[in-house]
Amino acid sequence: MKTWGGRFTQRADPAAERFTASLGVDVRLWPHDIAGSLAWARALARAGLLTDAEARTIADGLEAVRRELADGTFVFHPELEDIHTNVERRLTELIGAPGGKLHTGRSRNDQIALDERLYLKEVCGRIVDGLRLAQTALLARAAETVDAPMPGYTHLQRAQPVTLGHHLLAYVFMLARDRERALACRERADVMPLGSAALAGTAFAIDREALARDLGFAAVSPNSLDAVSDRDYVLEFLAAAAITGMHLSRLAADLTLWTTAEFGFVAFADAFATGSSIMPQKKNPDVAELIRGKSGRLYGNLVAVLTTMKGLPLSYNSDMQEDKEPFFDSVDTLDAILAVLPPMLASLTFRTERMREAAGQSFATATDLADYLVRKGLPFRQAHEVVGRAVRHAEERGRGLEELPLEELRSFSTLIDADVHAALSVDASLRARAVTGGTAPAAVREALTLARRLVDAG
Ligand code: ARG
Repeated sequence: MKTWGGRFTQRADPAAERFTASLGVDVRLWPHDIAGSLAWARALARAGLLTDAEARTIADGLEAVRRELADGTFVFHPELEDIHTNVERRLTELIGAPGGKLHTGRSRNDQIALDERLYLKEVCGRIVDGLRLAQTALLARAAETVDAPMPGYTHLQRAQPVTLGHHLLAYVFMLARDRERALACRERADVMPLGSAALAGTAFAIDREALARDLGFAAVSPNSLDAVSDRDYVLEFLAAAAITGMHLSRLAADLTLWTTAEFGFVAFADAFATGSSIMPQKKNPDVAELIRGKSGRLYGNLVAVLTTMKGLPLSYNSDMQEDKEPFFDSVDTLDAILAVLPPMLASLTFRTERMREAAGQSFATATDLADYLVRKGLPFRQAHEVVGRAVRHAEERGRGLEELPLEELRSFSTLIDADVHAALSVDASLRARAVTGGTAPAAVREALTLARRLVDAG
């Protein structure tokens, strides 16, 4: 029954068999396993190790296996450990003796590395597309709110006015770097390990370059030990996924905060919120909370595989079979997040009036008063001091700086003139920050154009 039964006399212990089986997890690799086997059979034929008739029989057999897997009629045997042996055994059942030649010069060690790389290349492409859709959704909301003021925060304290469009675009640029990381990950995965066999390289005259071309790889692995031993391509993906999860958790955290009664900056559509089983009035931003929460498992998966790989002697070790659950979990988690994020973003109602009102409160334009004094010739440190005293004075009287009469403001510096009130408005504060990358609506419009180009490219 087993592919390695020859040197064994005892049956496998059922608990050991269950413990070592990976079929439940690696079954999702079947399309790639079959693609790899089809190409391997062609390579064997090119090397004269299969007759053309045998190669054709194997190819037809593999296509039949593929159909069974695709339509759900394939009968799985968990006692055969993994997807590779399940496919091979069914092939042999279907076509007989030629099936036994497919594994010539190949090992499951180079086979799994191949399957994972093929799968990863596909995943990276999908993640790049998903990130692009998230960016597009953010861009649409940013375009509506290029000049909508809101309080900007540092230390979660109101700091200076920014525009909502500027805030949303920050995430578009973060996701642009995430896309670059996913693309770089795909590039690094684009190296073909097949032909490395168990560890030392196959003993047959396989044209690996032709095989790589056949499978759509850009290059062949230059060291067989490296090719069957490393999982850095998985780790790179997990690291990139963790960083994306971190970015999206911050976006989700902003929205969760903004939808509180205390902020009141945004409302979630009913379709993207849930209620409470006890408190009839509740509307919870569950989708955003879970996007925030799922970053935890994305980090955990990275640390799990790093820890599994640490200190493993070369070359292949069974420990490495443990890479798949965290790998696939991060794929599924990112897929799930990226599916729900764009429609959730589209459904938000931004309370821009309330944001505008909050943008002018809490001395948000105090820096603008200091900048005003600098423009009149006062060194910045002195201006900072003067404005600090004015803020204390206004705060004691329960007023904003802009509400103080000119004479009162002039008691702090005679450089202050009638034009000061215009300088203290939220719109003037925004307009002043016209540098590239600043929050002036004109600058945000420029950034929006740049972001659109980034999203459309690649
Ligand atoms: N299921 C194994 C894995 O996921 C495939 C390679 C197994 N090789 C071996 N000699 N047991 O890593």
